[in-house]
Amino acid sequence: MPAPNLRPSPSSTDDTGRAHRIVVLPGDGIGPEVSRAAREVIEAVGHDLGHDFYFEEALIGGAAIDATGSPLPQETLEACERSDAILLGAVGGPKWSDPSAPIRPEQGLLAIRRHFELFANLRPVKVFPALAASTPLRPEVIQGVDMLIVRELTGGLYFGDRAEQGSLAERPDTAYDTMTYSASEVDRVARVAFEAAKGRRGKVTSVDKANVLASMRLWRRQVEKVADDYPDVQLEHGLVDSCAMQIITRPTSFDVVLAGNLFGDILSDEAAVLAGSLGMLPSASLSTGTLGLYEPVHGSAPDIAGRELANPVGAILSAAMLLRHSLGLDGAARAIESAVEKALDAGLRTAELARGGPAASTREMTDAILRELPMVAVA
Ligand code: NAD
Ligand code: IPM
Ligand code: MN
Repeated sequence: MPAPNLRPSPSSTDDTGRAHRIVVLPGDGIGPEVSRAAREVIEAVGHDLGHDFYFEEALIGGAAIDATGSPLPQETLEACERSDAILLGAVGGPKWSDPSAPIRPEQGLLAIRRHFELFANLRPVKVFPALAASTPLRPEVIQGVDMLIVRELTGGLYFGDRAEQGSLAERPDTAYDTMTYSASEVDRVARVAFEAAKGRRGKVTSVDKANVLASMRLWRRQVEKVADDYPDVQLEHGLVDSCAMQIITRPTSFDVVLAGNLFGDILSDEAAVLAGSLGMLPSASLSTGTLGLYEPVHGSAPDIAGRELANPVGAILSAAMLLRHSLGLDGAARAIESAVEKALDAGLRTAELARGGPAASTREMTDAILRELPMVAVA
């Protein structure tokens, strides 16, 4: 299977005679707050570049459960099927998190990833120079950190044998999940990692637990086979426990980090410490075509929802990834990334990064970024 189209050739609004269609799935908690910020930034940069965007909003997660009983209504899927890209806020929250609830917001997220076979989840982790002193780590440890976590997203422990899980009802005191990987699942995501490494510093660190788990020994074997096709990329294997430590102690030694679904999930939240905040990290979930789903790495943050405290940067950088990977608008993506950098250089910080100094609200941070976009003036 071919690797996802990491960089579609530049397109314009009119190459198919229609506007770019983006479905926004705000979701729950801070999801609506940060996805609104991301949408405003796309609209602003698109307007400047003469591109038209057609936005459609649809339900997912807890909001969708409340309105329809399903965390991923058919209508939402149909809207996404008609679209070029999906921008998602976050799902979940205490209202729906009773452990015995049969329907959960997170199921909507897993189902949409699976429906569109979004097997490659790119989670770039960069340290903006202005935030070098905003982490618990010494500036010399994090200076220059630039890693890309490639997380497998539609297999592994999250999607273990669902037929077996059905028997849980008969065994209420036992629960289990199975970690299954097929060679083809590993192959396709590994190729994404190696392709990405070719355009970066030429190194892949594949994370596994091959010393204990059979599925992870298959993972390692298959990654080695893929590596044979990439003689110019250096491959190293790491066990997930020691990698978790090294991501903090020697983060600049990582270039592309390739991991399965669960390990990639955990390591990316850990790596967010390097960037200063979980609110900083974007992600792109891709398949073999250009349709992608873009969302910040963080969740719905119920502890700060509705209070203008959310950092919108992870969502805004996800919007940049959307423009780059699904729409081929690399210049627009770079304009957004540089606007974020300038806003941070100017001292703007949301509360979780402010360290006792003045804190910008979600609105103020978004406006500062909008102001730094070329030609955009915010009243
Ligand atoms: P979380 O990522 O929502 O929050 C963890 C901590 O980080 C909280 O203290 C929160 O305030 C802070 N934080 C997160 N995003 C922030 C932002 N943009 N700005 C400032 N601070 C931010 O994780 P959690 O609390 O463990 O999970 C809450 C809910 O979110 C759960 O229901 C979980 O399943 C869900 N979740 C959803 C997604 C998703 O939709 N992609 C991702 C992760 C978690
Ligand atoms: C993420 C989240 C999701 C995951 C949850 C909400 C299903 O943590 O996108 O990182 O584990 O994939
Ligand atoms: Mn996560």
